[in-house]
Amino acid sequence: MKARKLREGIYWVGGIDWNLRNFHGYMTQRGSTYNAYLIIDEKITLIDNVKSYLYDEMIARISDIIDPSKIDILIQNHVEMDHSGGLPRLMKLLPNTKLYTNAQAIKGLKAHYKEDWNFVEVKSGDTINIGKRDLTFLTTPMVHWPDNMFTYCPQETILFSNDGFGQHIASSERLDTEFPLNIILEEAKKYYANIVLPYSKQVQNVLNAASGLEISMICPSHGIIWTEHVPKIVAAYKDWAYYVSDSKTALVIYDTMWKSTEKMAMMIMEAFENVGMHPRLCNLQETHISDIMTEIVSARYICVGSPTLNSSILPTVAAFLYYLKGLSPKDRIGLAFGSYGWGGQSIPILQNLLGDPKECGFEMLEPIKYQYIPDQAALDEMRLKLEAELKTKLENQK
Ligand code: FEO
Repeated sequence: MKARKLREGIYWVGGIDWNLRNFHGYMTQRGSTYNAYLIIDEKITLIDNVKSYLYDEMIARISDIIDPSKIDILIQNHVEMDHSGGLPRLMKLLPNTKLYTNAQAIKGLKAHYKEDWNFVEVKSGDTINIGKRDLTFLTTPMVHWPDNMFTYCPQETILFSNDGFGQHIASSERLDTEFPLNIILEEAKKYYANIVLPYSKQVQNVLNAASGLEISMICPSHGIIWTEHVPKIVAAYKDWAYYVSDSKTALVIYDTMWKSTEKMAMMIMEAFENVGMHPRLCNLQETHISDIMTEIVSARYICVGSPTLNSSILPTVAAFLYYLKGLSPKDRIGLAFGSYGWGGQSIPILQNLLGDPKECGFEMLEPIKYQYIPDQAALDEMRLKLEAELKTKLENQK
């Protein structure tokens, strides 16, 4: 196992989780990495750690550069176990080594590992000197845990951003100049959608706080390291944090029992196309909710359809809507639709879950429902009504 040199004296020494496909419900089709960084200075410093089962891999990479027992300083930017799982074994090797982190992280690490390591509490703005370099800490609470923080090295203009700007990508390539940029940005967007989105207000604060920093490299704790494309990922984070969406993009998300709701979904697709917008169809039987969330980060219209089943909505649709509510996208326009047999309860339930301020809180279009099987004449009638409503929206946007 080799370390990867990033700058003179600065190395990536993380672990690669090639086979990871599910990160607590988020489909990680490209695997992931847990990035740890070794700085060789007067005080040898390790920033962050890896999942427990990749500890030996991290130690092998560190050993490629130095004897791991020579590490003088540990910095822990986050408690979550994908970045701290290797700590209990490392602390056995380095029992008295100072572990710099913030108060929330000290509390969290003690609660996780029941150990009273040699913690040194740091506050936002504190700086330590490790020789030729300084390291400054910037707490980033709730991006996405209370304990998250960034570490910044002014001499190198490197930001060690932990989960911020990360992506679940397992790769042999480390830098954004070595891997297809469109994939890195797409995976960063998926990561934001599924992990960071509920904390967008806090991301806004962090972006403001970090705006004065000169940054030539962002070293996240997952995936590819940002070098040449730092401005691109920072600009993307600004858009995502401020809920910027594409006013012409719509998602038509549905499940269906006897294909009537699917017919309505296709009709809605046609209505959006006919007014010059760009709809995408997502059948919840075929598309994972974490992939749909990636699209939701930039789509303005969120249309959700379910037939009525047992006086309610289909379980796939319910699961999606509860996931959506938890991730809290804002400033979106919703549409509830579906076919029904007799009760028709799915429509008010969808309308409530999408539109109620205590739920998703979207502005809502008129709901569309149809009893039993819509024929072409009925579909055309519904489509023309929706097209008229969409045209009005487009006019009002001008
Ligand atoms: Fe990658 Fe919040 O852990």
